[in-house]
Amino acid sequence: MAKLTIRVEDRLGTISPMIYGHFAEHLGRCIYEGLWVGEGSAIPNTRGIRNDTVAAMRKLRAPVVRWPGGCFADDYHWPDGIGPREARPSRLNIWWHDTESNHFGTHEFIDLCRQTGAEPYLCLNVGSGTPEEAAAWIEYCNCARPTTRAQQRAAGGSPEPFRVKYWGVGNENWGCGGRFAPDDYAREYRRFACYLRGRSSTPIELVACGHTTPDWNRRFLETLGDFRMLDHLSVHRYYNCGHATEFTDTEYYNLYPHALQVEQDIAEAATAIALYNRTGKKVGVIVDEWGVWHPEARGDSGLYQRNTLRDALVAAACFDVFNRHADVVTMANIAQTINVLQCVAQTQEEKMWLTPTYHAFDLYKEHMGNASVRVDVEDMPTVEARKADGAVVQLPVISASASVNPEKKTLLLTLQNLHLTEPCDVVARLRDGSAEKIVARLLTARDVRDCNGPDAPAKVRPRTFEGVARGSQVRATLPPHSLVAAKVSLR
Ligand code: AHR
Repeated sequence: MAKLTIRVEDRLGTISPMIYGHFAEHLGRCIYEGLWVGEGSAIPNTRGIRNDTVAAMRKLRAPVVRWPGGCFADDYHWPDGIGPREARPSRLNIWWHDTESNHFGTHEFIDLCRQTGAEPYLCLNVGSGTPEEAAAWIEYCNCARPTTRAQQRAAGGSPEPFRVKYWGVGNENWGCGGRFAPDDYAREYRRFACYLRGRSSTPIELVACGHTTPDWNRRFLETLGDFRMLDHLSVHRYYNCGHATEFTDTEYYNLYPHALQVEQDIAEAATAIALYNRTGKKVGVIVDEWGVWHPEARGDSGLYQRNTLRDALVAAACFDVFNRHADVVTMANIAQTINVLQCVAQTQEEKMWLTPTYHAFDLYKEHMGNASVRVDVEDMPTVEARKADGAVVQLPVISASASVNPEKKTLLLTLQNLHLTEPCDVVARLRDGSAEKIVARLLTARDVRDCNGPDAPAKVRPRTFEGVARGSQVRATLPPHSLVAAKVSLR
């Protein structure tokens, strides 16, 4: 049995809705086919953007989409993607060995965001671009005054500014984004940032590229010095263990500590920020690429991989980490929305199916904007697993997070039993709250290796679940390898 205490009044911070965000790059079949099919396509679309994937993202209430990369961003020149589509230049996509038609450019991306209801998050080109090119993109998107660039935007169909709030100043600038040393990137970042805010008629927030090695973050922040130029520091975390679908039980357990490394990434980035930030201004941590990257996902197959229940469960454990660190995590973006890596939906021509990961997002979506509350563990069975460096860890079989919506007087408790063969009885005691009613949903499958596909699109899907909530107690018996989202009405 697992015993938890939920401290309803112990608020850890507001869960930024942006934590349940997406990342879409010009890579494989993410943009072309996954999101953009073109106006002439037989696949139902609205102004070229496919309706089924948009509907799936709308249902998730996708809060934000980061675009155009990824590595692609630092070799992308935005003027290529505006103006009449037939006249746009065709370029090489050097990172993903493709030809880029530029048919999906700034206006199409903003249209995608408007159709899905998501905020746009644009990643600027630092590696092969200039401060002027970056600043001009901001002016093109966000300037309300009748400058030539704003008029170009209006001529492209949008007299109203796009009001893009989030701007990444490069991507992985320690790698594909220019192979900078941290202090060189800091100097470059400062030079870029100096010219960006002034081009926007609405406030913008700038995201700097961080790293999972703390030394990069510290050297970058120390050299940057001026925190007025920075709003968020980003880190990326990918992980894998064994094959996408034919993994062993040991590899199943070992994937957890690999993924949960993200907790340390967040802590180290936050520590580095605290060390150098003398302004008192809040600078958040963004995990703007994360997810499982199986060996099956190779560059020559567009980083396509199958997605099992295991991937969804491990993603949910990462959501628990983000929720618990709501005070510092300002955004997270799963890599990548459609057809690439740990996507939420996959397509094959006109067919589309939702991955198990989609359902994890769906079960967790009510956390968005809620107040994260402390969950203490009183008693918990564990299983043995190994970290990437081989160290043995005892993994708690239940991963949990909880949040409260004070207006609606509801508590969302998300629980996962990661044990492969044993069910787990969970007793959660509410401190400072009394439960009235519970509505719960369960995600599991016969085998943790199960996935959805074109011929079995709903093999892994959520169903309703019986739990008990009475007074100060919530009780549930979680089947092996399962995830439960319980919405509890509070008195
Ligand atoms: O998501 C695939 C790639 O992974 C991105 O282009 C890059 O930023 C990261 O290394």
